[in-house]
Amino acid sequence: MKIEKQPLTLTINGEKVGPVDVPVGMPMVDFLHDYLNLTGTRFGCGQGVCHACTVVEIEPNGTKTESRTCVYGAHFFEGKSIVTIEGQAERDANGQLKALTPIQQAFIEHFSFQCGYCTPGFVAGATVFMDELQRNPIKRADLETAIEAALNDHICRCTGYVRYYEAVREVALATPGCVID
Ligand code: FES
Ligand code: FES
Repeated sequence: MKIEKQPLTLTINGEKVGPVDVPVGMPMVDFLHDYLNLTGTRFGCGQGVCHACTVVEIEPNGTKTESRTCVYGAHFFEGKSIVTIEGQAERDANGQLKALTPIQQAFIEHFSFQCGYCTPGFVAGATVFMDELQRNPIKRADLETAIEAALNDHICRCTGYVRYYEAVREVALATPGCVID
């Protein structure tokens, strides 16, 4: 059986990818893994429920949103810009790690994860949450509820979520302009 392919062009981690011929209907997570060797995006439920496969999508106006890569095909991202977990940290011209993002650093310092399978998705979710906070600051009294709401869809089978939430709270409080009294 001949597999139908269509060209795909998009931006991943700031680099233009394609045009490359990709099978029609191939999930984005498979494209990332099999075509680009970007294996940090996790495949969990495959049904859009666990959010392990979440990446950050950069809208044309710069706003960050979450996108699940198991339920959306690679061609759904035609012309779009996404950031996978590999593109989160700052790297030098040789690809060597320069600095983790504040969210990544806080997850480590708070021992937020155990096996880490869910972590790329949590990093994406928390990154989008921080982007929203910087655009629309909230009151300190509402922060806890807002964190839970923002990360509620991300499933972790190891931890009790508390340390993820604590880490995000710390970053939100330490980032100027995100939380108002
Ligand atoms: S693997 Fe995509 S939501 Fe679970
Ligand atoms: S740390 Fe193992 S699934 Fe979250």
